[in-house]
Amino acid sequence: MPSETSLRPRSVQLRWMRMVDVEALRLEQWFALLDPSEQARAMRFRNRADQAAYVAAHALLRHMLSEALGGDPRAWAFETGPFGKPALAASHLRLRPHFNISHTRRLVACAIAGVPVGVDVEAGDGEPSSAIAERFAPGERAMLGRAAGDGYRAMFFRLWTLKEAYFKATGEGLSGRLDRPAFQIASRKALFERPEDAGPWQIFEFAPGEAHRLALVVQRRGNTPVSVVAAATDPAGLC
Ligand SMILES: CC(C)(COP(=O)(O)OP(=O)(O)OC[C@H]1O[C@@H](n2cnc3c(N)ncnc32)[C@H](O)[C@@H]1OP(=O)(O)O)[C@@H](O)C(=O)NCCC(=O)NCCS
Repeated sequence: MPSETSLRPRSVQLRWMRMVDVEALRLEQWFALLDPSEQARAMRFRNRADQAAYVAAHALLRHMLSEALGGDPRAWAFETGPFGKPALAASHLRLRPHFNISHTRRLVACAIAGVPVGVDVEAGDGEPSSAIAERFAPGERAMLGRAAGDGYRAMFFRLWTLKEAYFKATGEGLSGRLDRPAFQIASRKALFERPEDAGPWQIFEFAPGEAHRLALVVQRRGNTPVSVVAAATDPAGLC
């Protein structure tokens, strides 16, 4: 394994992979890249599409790490933080790169960076959860209240992916409150409702196909904005 990360702190690599035809995917090859604990988790999925998404997301992560840092995709070892956020095992690198993965129906995504990062994908065509929406901030609930039908659904999933990506970037996960930070969606752009909540965090949104939504939250170092190199990955090219 290499001795040090080549990832630059102001750049994030983001990839997503659409999982249209599960039968045609290279699941066996990808499964072989995983370590025994990942393989055991993969085997516990009852739903084949969920299992495929899990395997694909973990294979994509291993590929991206090897692409950026060198080494065999099978050799990466991981450990988990206090709220379950996975990180590279300490034995790997002096400067450990940050990463995060997300998987949902028909889409997986992975981001790697020299700074903390969180990514979330949602299918976007499901039923918005009123139990979750009730826990959003007053301004967010007001925005949802002004939207109707498909507009409501789109707004809900944008807010939800932003919150998940934020709490995945900080590593807290969804164990706490959902009303801070609050986001404001003004036409095409999403912002932190209160500028003081932004802190070092920069947000990005993508629409990677069908109704899917993807949000990315990245920690900025200093005043220079982070840039994102985003691309779709063809499942046929990941083997
Ligand atoms: C971590 C969490 C945000 C994941 O959200 P999700 O939409 O279900 O799943 P995603 O596909 O986007 O992300 C899953 C990946 O996030 C990563 N992850 C797990 N815990 C994490 C954390 N605390 N911070 C950042 N990333 C985390 C893992 O790589 C995981 O992949 P894996 O399950 O294949 O190993 C969410 O499950 C969580 O917070 N769970 C703990 C608390 C909880 O269950 N609260 C329920 C009340 S709403």
